[in-house]
Amino acid sequence: MSAIKKNVLEVENLVAGYGRIEALHGVSLTLAQGELVALVGANGAGKTTLLRTISGLLPCKSGQVKLLDGDITNSSPDYRVQQGLAQVLEGRQVFGPLSIQDNLRLGAYANREGTDERLQQMYELFPVLHEKKHLAAGTLSGGQQQMLAIARALMSKPRVLLLDEPSMGLAPLLVREVFRVIQRLKDQGIPILLVEQNARAALAIADRGYVLETGKITLSGKAADLTNDERVRSAYLGL
Ligand SMILES: Nc1ncnc2c1ncn2[C@@H]1O[C@H](COP(=O)(O)OP(=O)(O)OP(=O)(O)O)[C@@H](O)[C@H]1O
Ligand SMILES: [Mg+2]
Repeated sequence: MSAIKKNVLEVENLVAGYGRIEALHGVSLTLAQGELVALVGANGAGKTTLLRTISGLLPCKSGQVKLLDGDITNSSPDYRVQQGLAQVLEGRQVFGPLSIQDNLRLGAYANREGTDERLQQMYELFPVLHEKKHLAAGTLSGGQQQMLAIARALMSKPRVLLLDEPSMGLAPLLVREVFRVIQRLKDQGIPILLVEQNARAALAIADRGYVLETGKITLSGKAADLTNDERVRSAYLGL
């Protein structure tokens, strides 16, 4: 018998949007301890809106977000980071003029204890960042900037990690590298909610998945079952 894993994130009936435009119409999902969950959906489905509402960058209109048993529905983004929630934003948001090392140190702002030790861990996980630690982040390639964005999020010692399109715009070799890193984070036991247009690769490493269509979850289940689902295959896997 497998042990029942505790949820680290629970989203219940979340409604959110922009002004009077509602982009999420009551979304519910869960992420359990040690799980990698993929969220797939077409352009404009509301994936980024969902992650931004979970991390508090967007207010929700109704519904609930629970992180490790605490209700964070109306908490500030900083509080959520302190409580263990980290998000890698869409489009590799690094501070270009700052050095790689300083970008990483900024990632620890909400939880400074053990910063130096975590810096060393990041340099082990991403050797290229170690080689270039004194260079401006803006000099890195797109793939390296994505590694830096992930490493910066990890500097806050997250207990839940949200990743928004980490492979977007990268060459195939770097896409594979990013997915290898995500697999390693999963192996380290970090629960991850992964948003990806690359549904095939995301479902290949995920435990479970959700399909989001125009602000609603329309399908969910084990990643392997979703990969075999006719609707998923024709709409998202190009089969
Ligand atoms: N800043 C904004 N102001 C108004 N509407 C927005 C804004 N950002 C997104 N939207 C709208 O909200 C809906 C959901 O967009 P969202 O960016 O969450 O989708 P997505 O699934 O992340 O898409 P993509 O795959 O392109 O990243 C879309 O209809 C979009 O046009
Ligand atoms: Mg998006």
